[in-house]
Amino acid sequence: MKSIIKSRAACMVLVFIFHLIVVCNGEEDETMGAVMEKREQEALYFVIQGFVGKWWNGSDLYPDPCGWTPIQGVSCDIFDDGYWFVTELNIGLIHENSPSCVLNMEFSPHLFALKHLKRLSFVKCMVHRSHPVTIPTEDWSALSGSLESLEFRSNPGLIGEVPISFGSLTSLQSLVLLENEISGELPTNLGNLVNLKRLVFSGNRFTGQVPLNFGSFGQLLIMDLSRNSLSGNLPLTFGGLNSLLKLDVSNNEFEGDIPNEIGNLRNLTLLDLSRNKFAGVLTKSLQQLSSLRELVLSRNPISGSLMNLEWHNLQSLIILDLSRMMLEDRVPESISELMGLRFLGLNDNNLTGELSPKLAEMPNITAMYLNGNNFTGKLMLAESFYAKLGRRFGAWDNPNLCYTFNFSSTSHVPFGVKQCQGLVNLYATKAGTSSKLEGNVNEVPLSVASGEHRRNEISYAYVVNMMLLLLFMASSK
Ligand SMILES: *[C@@H]1O[C@H](CO)[C@@H](O)[C@H](O)[C@H]1NC(C)=O
Ligand SMILES: *[C@@H]1O[C@H](CO)[C@@H](O)[C@H](O)[C@H]1NC(C)=O
Ligand SMILES: *[C@@H]1O[C@H](CO)[C@@H](O)[C@H](O)[C@H]1NC(C)=O
Ligand SMILES: *[C@@H]1O[C@H](CO)[C@@H](O)[C@H](O)[C@H]1NC(C)=O
Ligand SMILES: *[C@@H]1O[C@H](CO)[C@@H](O)[C@H](O)[C@H]1NC(C)=O
Ligand SMILES: *[C@@H]1O[C@H](CO)[C@@H](O)[C@H](O)[C@H]1NC(C)=O
Repeated sequence: MKSIIKSRAACMVLVFIFHLIVVCNGEEDETMGAVMEKREQEALYFVIQGFVGKWWNGSDLYPDPCGWTPIQGVSCDIFDDGYWFVTELNIGLIHENSPSCVLNMEFSPHLFALKHLKRLSFVKCMVHRSHPVTIPTEDWSALSGSLESLEFRSNPGLIGEVPISFGSLTSLQSLVLLENEISGELPTNLGNLVNLKRLVFSGNRFTGQVPLNFGSFGQLLIMDLSRNSLSGNLPLTFGGLNSLLKLDVSNNEFEGDIPNEIGNLRNLTLLDLSRNKFAGVLTKSLQQLSSLRELVLSRNPISGSLMNLEWHNLQSLIILDLSRMMLEDRVPESISELMGLRFLGLNDNNLTGELSPKLAEMPNITAMYLNGNNFTGKLMLAESFYAKLGRRFGAWDNPNLCYTFNFSSTSHVPFGVKQCQGLVNLYATKAGTSSKLEGNVNEVPLSVASGEHRRNEISYAYVVNMMLLLLFMASSK
């Protein structure tokens, strides 16, 4: 106790000396001289105290929050009238030593008195599922002139709906509600937020349809609605999002055709519609998306043929995942003209015909899954290709496919594919008659092996995704 008092005393002396220096110098620059309005300062204290607990006494701990006792997560700026105002407030576990939010936290109404607040975020703040919290519904309009970025990230205790009054935040450029437990429908009046560049609602419990006016964000660069329970059709109005770089609606319950209007999104680099109930046929308009680096449509009952698309238009593609759909017909040789391709997933469709040896000529390919189809004939890819990809070349579960045994080393045979000539059948034979080769193969049950591949595929897609996002963030700075 004594030492606390002592250090407080020392602190006061320091404050005194500091003021003395400032006063004696006489020539205070603007920053030194600027002060905070008492009202602004107290509002800030009340807001933070509401989240981190009554023990937190701002006037004791941070007597000059925009000056010489900065608070972690708080930024200030001087406005025309020469006073400091809070422009940025980050609540939650942003830094290792930032105070965490308490169980009985509350949104202080003083939050809406911070009239120059530009950026507001809550990261891992509402974490107690046993004490759920909702976003206050009132007063957001007070921040409509200033707030540019609003984020709620990783708050498993944040429930309830998106307040209608978010629709009044017309200066918003970034609205991120990522990994919370927010539910209900997407409010139609969010369509008013015409300055939005980033809209991320991923990993919540949203239901219902996407409002038509979500297609009117003329400046939007990122739309991520993934991992919710949204349903209905993708609005045709999405064709108006012509600045869009990234569209991710994966892991929802969307249905209907992929709208042809999607072909208007010429700057799109990522299109992920995977894990929905989209149907219809593979739309030819996809071939207009010439900036596309990642096209992921897997796990949708979409049928049609790969032969109908001009694949060489999509020269930027790095990831092409069309697995677990209902695709039919052959694989066009033109897919092998995608020189930047690293991942090709065509597994678990109803594809037929022979596979071109040119598939092995894509220089950057690191994984290719063709398993679970009905390919026929002889697999004649280069030995070096099998050697390079190993189990990341999937051709198993194609009963009418075989490989020609023409290798320098038996270790480079395609996994799970039978040999063309000769009597060895990797799956049909029982133990006892098995050759050395089969012994190797049978050690790994097929289901385990394909699970492993699936994981590779996810982590690879994820890594590339993150890289793209980082790239984007860096370039938008
Ligand atoms: C903070 O502490 C001061 C005394 O050090 C006290 O006057 C003030 O009421 C306290 N403020 C809050 C919000 O608890
Ligand atoms: C598409 O990208 C190009 C190049 O980055 C840019 O000049 C153009 O304005 C973008 N188009 C739209 C509609 O934003
Ligand atoms: C292959 O990958 C390398 C390294 O990532 C890259 O520099 C190169 O441009 C890629 N090749 C093509 C044809 O995209
Ligand atoms: C696959 O295609 C064949 C021939 O067109 C058809 O008979 C069969 O029903 C299809 N299977 C599936 C699962 O779509
Ligand atoms: C696989 O293809 C062969 C020959 O093209 C065809 O006879 C057979 O019905 C197909 N099998 C399935 C399950 O589609
Ligand atoms: C088998 O290998 C030989 C020499 O390595 C080559 O000349 C021949 O074309 C190969 N046959 C097939 C079917 O790949």
